[in-house]
Amino acid sequence: MRLDTIIQNGILVTAAETIEADLGIIGEKIAAVGQNLPKDGAKAIDAKGKYVLPGGIDAHTHMEFPFMAATSADDFETGTTASACGGITTIIDFALQKPGETLEQTVKNWRRKADGKVVIDYGLHLIIRDLNDRILDEMKEMIGQGITSFKLFMTYKKEGLLLDDGGIFRVMEEAAKYNGLIGLHCENNDLIECLMSRYLKQGRKEPKYFARSKPPVVEGEAIHRAIRLAEYSGCPMYVVHMSTQMGSETVCEAQRSHLPIYAETCPHYLVFTDEVYERPDGANYVMSPPIKKKEDQDALWHGLAKGEIKTIGSDHCCFTTEQKKLGKDDFTKIPNGVAGTELIMPVLYHFGVAKNRISINQMVQASSYNPARLFGLYPKKGTLAVGSDADLVIFDPEKEVRLTRENLHSKIDHSIYDSFTVKGYPVMTFSRGRLVQENGRFIGEKGHGKYQARKPFKESEARQMLAPALA
Ligand code: URP
Ligand code: ZN
Ligand code: ZN
Repeated sequence: MRLDTIIQNGILVTAAETIEADLGIIGEKIAAVGQNLPKDGAKAIDAKGKYVLPGGIDAHTHMEFPFMAATSADDFETGTTASACGGITTIIDFALQKPGETLEQTVKNWRRKADGKVVIDYGLHLIIRDLNDRILDEMKEMIGQGITSFKLFMTYKKEGLLLDDGGIFRVMEEAAKYNGLIGLHCENNDLIECLMSRYLKQGRKEPKYFARSKPPVVEGEAIHRAIRLAEYSGCPMYVVHMSTQMGSETVCEAQRSHLPIYAETCPHYLVFTDEVYERPDGANYVMSPPIKKKEDQDALWHGLAKGEIKTIGSDHCCFTTEQKKLGKDDFTKIPNGVAGTELIMPVLYHFGVAKNRISINQMVQASSYNPARLFGLYPKKGTLAVGSDADLVIFDPEKEVRLTRENLHSKIDHSIYDSFTVKGYPVMTFSRGRLVQENGRFIGEKGHGKYQARKPFKESEARQMLAPALA
């Protein structure tokens, strides 16, 4: 067996194991893992003292996403370039149904935006916002085509995205029949609207009132309600971008009752607290749900450590400072969303592993293995096994990077992490055997990424994720 590339002496980390070994690549696949693999003309990379990790799977991105009065600034090329530079080798993006559109049309339109542009592999979730019997009928077909997860909104009524509880229930019933997974944006719309209009009437229009219009109960109540709907319909459910202690406790309680309820959090909830909304550039930190308090942040780290929160997705939906100014006189008009796909791994390592909040294996679970299991990509992705795609990251635990605009690759003109220095950074990213990032420089190719049809959701697969501690 003649290897194309051999990564020597690295510390190979999977969800369950850490071993010092060589890893060999032939073409697009991992071909060998072992001690002293024969070099035999292969390109050799010395990874001594560095981690070799499965490429990250960012299961929550919004590239070129038309939202509120704007479209998110990163397209599929710039956005996935940022992903690749942060060690992400697959994204799952949200294809947004337009009013009146069939799901088939939505997928066609979204793939037209992505194919030929993506620099790493990608899959799609579907956002259903205009529900009728025909759309329900189409879900089976979509799952068959490899789009096995759907996102529904419990808020954004004014933006035309909300599905009422009956609609959510109907979609869940359909997903349950055909092994789909339902992702829920859990925020109580009525309470948000009530609080927002109260603040606006009082003339309180700055970004901090956005956050105050969405206190923890907004998310906690909606998660509770969504879980009850999922339970009644028999549908597995995934809470996207969870931000609160209240939400975590509710999810944990459902898991203790052995319900198939999974949760994701995002890097920004693990780093910041709601004090950011007092900053002059507070609008740049406006996303939904908003960042909460220290006790919420602690609960999210605890949830990750206990395996109750399964994944970390970036919710990459970034807007320029100019776009954020749409809300300069009214916080309800600030386009919601921030950049994050490039920083999933550095945040998990610097703020998690290096601070002993989680282990390096848990970092792999949350950033790669668990999303692969939940979203039907395992074992092609999410591990370092012979036969898996050679989607890999060489991660240097000693490398320090200052997170300035210049060091990051998103198209936007600011970073919410600006001036932070993190220790631990991806120094090489391989996408299906091809080196696409080296020392912070993107060296991949537009259009290299391939669409990934995913397998239907299987509870037995999901059970392979390490079980939450049911103490
Ligand atoms: O603020 C956010 N999260 N923007 C993107 C849309 C969504 O709800 O995920
Ligand atoms: Zn959302
Ligand atoms: Zn999102």
